[in-house]
Amino acid sequence: MLVRGTFVHCLHSSTLEILHDYLLAVDDLGCITHFNAAASSQSTQFLTNIDELPKQLPEGSFLLPTFCDLHLHAPQFLYQGNGLHLPLMEWLDEYAFKAEERLDADPKLARRVYTRLAERLVENGTGAVLLFGTIKEETNLILADVMHKAGIRAFVGKLSMDQSSRPSYVEESADNSLDAARSFVGKMKSVYDIPHLVEPVITPRFVPTCSDTLLKGLGDLAASQDLRIQSHLAESHDQVEAVRSERGEEDLLVFRRSNLLTPRTIQAHCTFLDVPSLSQLRECGTAVAHCPLSNAYFSAKPFCLREALDQGLKVGLGTDVAGGYSLDIMNAMRQAVVTSRMRQGSNIMNCNSESTLAINWIEALFLATRGGAISLGLPFGCGLFQVGAPFDVQQISLWDTSTRIGVGALDFFDDAMKITPEVVEKWWCLGDNRNRASTWVQGIKL
Ligand code: GUN
Ligand code: FE
Repeated sequence: MLVRGTFVHCLHSSTLEILHDYLLAVDDLGCITHFNAAASSQSTQFLTNIDELPKQLPEGSFLLPTFCDLHLHAPQFLYQGNGLHLPLMEWLDEYAFKAEERLDADPKLARRVYTRLAERLVENGTGAVLLFGTIKEETNLILADVMHKAGIRAFVGKLSMDQSSRPSYVEESADNSLDAARSFVGKMKSVYDIPHLVEPVITPRFVPTCSDTLLKGLGDLAASQDLRIQSHLAESHDQVEAVRSERGEEDLLVFRRSNLLTPRTIQAHCTFLDVPSLSQLRECGTAVAHCPLSNAYFSAKPFCLREALDQGLKVGLGTDVAGGYSLDIMNAMRQAVVTSRMRQGSNIMNCNSESTLAINWIEALFLATRGGAISLGLPFGCGLFQVGAPFDVQQISLWDTSTRIGVGALDFFDDAMKITPEVVEKWWCLGDNRNRASTWVQGIKL
């Protein structure tokens, strides 16, 4: 495939690059083999060996890397937008565990929920997603199958939990849970060659639902097969207190002792971590899935995003559906900015205005694309337009070329009708699915 037009990506956390009239080639494996200004592509004779005519993007469109969602509970999609008045530990009992139990008991329902979820992810421009599934193997294999068929880069976690506040929804013992985790990884590897678009992830739900034996066993399993790990860390006041009173220590230490904080680990939330604890995460190479909407409901306290970024911690964004009610990473970007600005406001009110705790929209766009790809350890160059990177891309339409009328919620542009940082910013604030014309993952159009 050859595409010619405008490309937008975030090279670094605060660098937006808009490349006009560039030419990009994708090979049969879905990787970018050429990326250069169209004029220099012609002068370097790049086009002379190629019969294919480039697909010319309409003038009011640009290509952008797909979004990464670093934290989503697939079965909870069933109860998206329900019960958020409850504190976390009660909400888990009332909604989350129930959704998971229902899908584990009903494979047809599971397939229906997961199929709709996959459609919604594509609509929302999410090309890579880190998923929490359920306890039962069969249901997780359905989830993997649905994501695979949809062509989404999906990392699927079979829940490991040998303790639970819901007696009907728990694994029998640590040994039983470890056997089940091993079996799931084995099945996934037998169905999908690894590395693949769909891969298994070791998923201790969080410290309150896992015995020390289970956590240690999962740490060993992940290490022996070089697997990704995901969990929830220091999420909410009631959760942190529960760990303190039951274990007599912080969940950060529990995870660390169990070899679960690795460069292949993504921990959701981390709202109750102070700066020294964030440094520990960075030393371990562990990434954070920042889920600002869910944090506003369950955490009572914002994540120290600016401090995490200043330290060089790997950070991306997560929707935390259904602790967060929106599946759209565009909303997560906006909420990340809003939350950080409120933190900055409080900082000024406390007469400590030296540091800027706010992030801007470009930093949020970086987190949603390249930051997420780095956190997930995606293939080389993912989240950027770069030779060798997979073509994981969304096409955004801003205005209709013939009528010059804005698409969706976009109305007025500057008279030049050119894609400038201000125009991209306007899309970032007001854009929605109506602006998304196409999505590709690994060169395949979804
Ligand atoms: N902590 C443990 N399980 C969950 C869950 O399902 N959602 C959220 N938000 N936090 C959790
Ligand atoms: Fe979660």
